[in-house]
Amino acid sequence: STDGAADRYEIVQRTAVAEILPGVRTEIWGYNGIFPGPTIVSTSGRRTIVTHRNRLPAPVVVHLHGGRTPPEHDGYPTDLVYPEGASGHHMAGAGHTAMSGDVSMGRRDYVYPLRQPAATLWYHDHRMDFTGPGVWRGLAGFHIVHDRHELSLGLPGGDRDMPIAIMDRSFAEDGGLRYPSLDPTLTHTPGVRSPYGPGVLGDVILVNGVPWPLAPVPAVRHRLRLLNASNARRYRLVLDPPPPGGNAFVQVGTDGGLLSRPIPHDALEMAPAQRFDVVVDFGRYRPGQYVTVRNEWGDGTTADVMRFHVTARADDRSRVPDVLTAAVPLREKDAVVTRRFEFRHDTVRGMPGWTINGRAFSPTDSIMSPKLGTTEIWRLLSDFHHPIHVHLSHFQVLSRGLGGPGPYDHGPKDTVDLRPGEQMAVLVRFDDYAGRYVMHCHNLEHEDMGMMATFTTV
Ligand code: C2O
Ligand code: CU
Ligand code: CU
Repeated sequence: STDGAADRYEIVQRTAVAEILPGVRTEIWGYNGIFPGPTIVSTSGRRTIVTHRNRLPAPVVVHLHGGRTPPEHDGYPTDLVYPEGASGHHMAGAGHTAMSGDVSMGRRDYVYPLRQPAATLWYHDHRMDFTGPGVWRGLAGFHIVHDRHELSLGLPGGDRDMPIAIMDRSFAEDGGLRYPSLDPTLTHTPGVRSPYGPGVLGDVILVNGVPWPLAPVPAVRHRLRLLNASNARRYRLVLDPPPPGGNAFVQVGTDGGLLSRPIPHDALEMAPAQRFDVVVDFGRYRPGQYVTVRNEWGDGTTADVMRFHVTARADDRSRVPDVLTAAVPLREKDAVVTRRFEFRHDTVRGMPGWTINGRAFSPTDSIMSPKLGTTEIWRLLSDFHHPIHVHLSHFQVLSRGLGGPGPYDHGPKDTVDLRPGEQMAVLVRFDDYAGRYVMHCHNLEHEDMGMMATFTTV
């Protein structure tokens, strides 16, 4: 609904039984009881207020990933929303987390000013130590922001603008989602001692909550807003067969919004939490043809993602302009601070875990105070695959290894794919809101096992 100054949504978080695999009953935790949650659509610069009510058996935290959000609405990991009807007793049991967070009982209004350009955002649970299992059970959904400029470009719209969330899951014998906390098959990554080494991986690929779906599409251009909403799995996506002449995907945007110019790709490499906004022209296929989205980094059941069935030709007035946005890039020479962050496997409180500069996440410990309105250089170094995510702002990639930005590093990224032994340099600039935020690895098991840090913008 609309109240003049804001768009309002109400979401009830609750358990539900879903039929994800045909004929199998699976208990999920869902926003409004569905998985993924409802897609929220906002207009840039217009407030959206989302009231979350918690009817789950555990506290929750809601984060709008990619949102330029004031700190009190950003979903800091200890800003818990307790279940409706939870007693004061319950809260006392939460110990130190309750003390360092802004706790609410039963419900909370999240206010999103959305003073940012059109982009494909998503919202998900962000509770300290429990983000992995919360998202795995279903707490994730799209939040799309449009603006007048983007709508005037002539990109495919309506039914031809398809949000596509890709997630892997595994299922237990009884149909429940299996979160394999100590699965021995996950221990075999050389050099990684933790049973969670690569994070939790599933063997069923879901697209918008459906295993390996088949989508009929007319033989015209479509805009696919691809989101890797998996806890830990990385994908390399191709179309099979490729269209004649290649360049299956024309990328028009990424995490934080449009690219300045479209970039054609034969394949897309996607780390967790990343978004690739691409145009695929199904008019390059014959009507009747099937086109499979394959994952070249998967095998067996994880090698296929979904299929399109190209139906009839249809009228297509969409276009992909040569210039998408005139947004001014950040400049390296404006940077006033250089910081260095090492992401490593480590011992955390006597257990295998993951750290940033040797420190595990602590809600009472802020590691830096970036100044609003200034540009910084961050050097990121890693021992493993770590999708590095920052709240409030986004990164502009300067270099990867010895070269410039990689093919998937262009545009405003809020999550960069940091690879084993690799060093990246990124520019980052925070604006608008002073307060407490986090940056972290978006491998959700790494995040839950310590690889997150608090910073305070001033
Ligand atoms: Cu997608 Cu800190 O989160
Ligand atoms: Cu985020
Ligand atoms: Cu990581």
